[in-house]
Amino acid sequence: MAYQILVQSDVDPYEAILPLLSDSCQIHMWREEEPPADTDFAAIEGLYVYSHMWLDGALMERMPGLRVISNFGVGCDHIDLDGAKRLGIPVGNTPGVLDAATADMTFTLLMAAARNVVRGDHFARGPEFIEYDPSFLLGQEVAGSTLGIVGLGRIGYQVARRASGFDMEVIYHNRGPNRRAEEELGARYVSLDELVSTADFVTLTMPLTDETRGMIGRRELGLMKPTAVLVNAARGGVLDHEALLEALRERRIYAAALDVTEPEPLPRDHPLLAMENVIIMPHLGSATVQTRDAMARMSVKNLMAGLEGREVPYRIA
Ligand code: DGY
Repeated sequence: MAYQILVQSDVDPYEAILPLLSDSCQIHMWREEEPPADTDFAAIEGLYVYSHMWLDGALMERMPGLRVISNFGVGCDHIDLDGAKRLGIPVGNTPGVLDAATADMTFTLLMAAARNVVRGDHFARGPEFIEYDPSFLLGQEVAGSTLGIVGLGRIGYQVARRASGFDMEVIYHNRGPNRRAEEELGARYVSLDELVSTADFVTLTMPLTDETRGMIGRRELGLMKPTAVLVNAARGGVLDHEALLEALRERRIYAAALDVTEPEPLPRDHPLLAMENVIIMPHLGSATVQTRDAMARMSVKNLMAGLEGREVPYRIA
């Protein structure tokens, strides 16, 4: 008999996923803010979370047969983990497999913002590019500079590895020290104030939690160097967007690059979208074919384990 699962996603899930489920599961799609009115909550055994819609504990309570929640992705800030814990429902996520791709994107954004890649591309295609000008679009040197990593976990570690190839000095701020990064890469633990005031590049790779929400605000941006570049590869909520807008408008930092925003997407008339000194991506950190395949397989493994009454292999709560 097929397991009854609810797939929470406001977009069509990545095409590699549903075929992995369709042999053993009957799939019910949940696309709007609320699940469809005709959902038989009592029958639902598994929840597969593909997008970043909020998943509330009160809703989990309405599914007495729910045995597992599986998230396509590592960040679970859109899931009421306390609610799931209280109800004893295991939540699985996809740690590890996306570290390299996300670190690559973090570094891509760092380089692109430092070296004006997006502005340069637009300019080179436009009518104003009539001759080479050696004084045009001068960026910031990456090689030999200081990188400050806020959140040196698995992804931050991969960012630090990439930085060592660019002869960068790595400083970091984290909940606790990361001895591996210190021993292998020479990363140095500093306070957040020291990090933002001395780094040439600040990258954000911490999870969004009660402690990290709004962690980079007016004060921290005010401490940054006027030549510094900020890259957010974490979640939009860790950064105060109003304060960032001010800092970019007043040229108090050189540039920013955001893989993520809050809300996501930003309203189409949001003033950040009109700024030249910020690059904005549609949340592409882990978006490679290989990584998304690995995430699909891992998240389906978690789901099937929970449905079959086995230990969820990659469990966050
Ligand atoms: C992640 O894995 O957290 C990505 O941001 C996609 O949710």
